[in-house]
Amino acid sequence: MSFATGLRCRKCGQEYPLQPLKVCDFCLSPVEVNYDYKAMIQAVSRQSIASGPATIWRYRDLLPVETKDEIDLGTGMTPLVKADNLGWKLGLERLYIKNDCLTPTYSFKDRAVAVAVNKAKEFGFNTVACASTGNLAASVAAHAAKAGMRAYVFVPSNVEPGKLVGVSIYKPNLVTVEGSYDDVNRLCAEVAQKYNWGFININLRPYYAEGSKTLGYEVAEQLGWQSPDCVVAPAASGLLFTRIWKGLQELSMLKLIEPVNTHMYLTQATGSSPIVKAYEAGSLHIHPVTPNTIVTSIAIGNPADGYYALMVARQSGGGAQDVNDEEAIEGMKLLAETEGIFAEAAGGVVIAGLRKLVQSGKIHKDQLTVAFITGAGPRTQEIVSDVVQPVKVEPNLKSFSEVAGVGV
Ligand SMILES: Cc1ncc(COP(=O)(O)O)c(C=O)c1O
Ligand SMILES: [Zn+2]
Repeated sequence: MSFATGLRCRKCGQEYPLQPLKVCDFCLSPVEVNYDYKAMIQAVSRQSIASGPATIWRYRDLLPVETKDEIDLGTGMTPLVKADNLGWKLGLERLYIKNDCLTPTYSFKDRAVAVAVNKAKEFGFNTVACASTGNLAASVAAHAAKAGMRAYVFVPSNVEPGKLVGVSIYKPNLVTVEGSYDDVNRLCAEVAQKYNWGFININLRPYYAEGSKTLGYEVAEQLGWQSPDCVVAPAASGLLFTRIWKGLQELSMLKLIEPVNTHMYLTQATGSSPIVKAYEAGSLHIHPVTPNTIVTSIAIGNPADGYYALMVARQSGGGAQDVNDEEAIEGMKLLAETEGIFAEAAGGVVIAGLRKLVQSGKIHKDQLTVAFITGAGPRTQEIVSDVVQPVKVEPNLKSFSEVAGVGV
């Protein structure tokens, strides 16, 4: 049984039953899932969680899914790696990488989609759909394949070819839209009005949001039930960032960890950094931008949860950091060279952002810091193709010894 009791508007507090709903009917603000925390606290303990499966479903009591027979690709409990090599380079003594490259479709989106697709099934939809910068489309397509549901996934036409293969292999209906992600999103809002589909990040967005909380839960559990001093994570719509925070807050509310004192830092690519710009201007208003960056997966110019992400960054005593495309690529290379993790460019943004946050004295060397790597690199490998610099030899030892300068 789930402890979810309904939906509640984040702005005006209006309550709704659990249903597909994008925004509050009264004030058009995002709605979120509300729980009976009093009942939840009786049912949930560190032991009850630890005795669950090594997937996000170990936290099922904290999620809004009713079914016991969930559609599951095995998402969750990805490694939290102590990153001593990278930490040494950056000047951090207690750095960890949460490696969410290692999910079924190679990005953290599987967490959010696992929850949303199960809700879609519970609500009786037979088609699921999404607006995506690429990763979400792959995850929705894979979950729909497993669930035996029809999928329509909409992406901007400039999505990297490798990502389109990673989507199409699951045989969804792939729609490429001539325009930016924000154009795709606008189109999907109209499609969602006309067709009775479960749009993962539109009318199912409150449930989709809940899946990302599991990143916060896992990190705290993997750290021996404690919250880190600092979190560094990427932001596109800003939703993931707010949900890591919500996950930590809920564990504290359930008395599974001490009160949270984590400084939350979000990172964006300079060419698509409306949240960072608002943070730096000391403003609460996010001015939409037209994205211009190679970091396409987080290129959202008009972030739906930007305001809430900004509030988390400010209220937690964290901040917001942008990095340019060259810095992001350097970040990708540094992570791979030091920790053996091939992240996509969004991960490069996190590592390069972390480097700047340390250099500017915002994150200190003794703070327990977790950098969230949320998507894998191999599908977008064109952007680092210059790393291929082999030593060319004839197929004999003499040639190898000469060219490689290796004495016998
Ligand atoms: C790899 C990766 N990281 C982070 C994000 C950010 O997600 P959000 O829109 O929740 O801020 C995305 C979004 O598409 C993504 O693909
Ligand atoms: Zn409202």
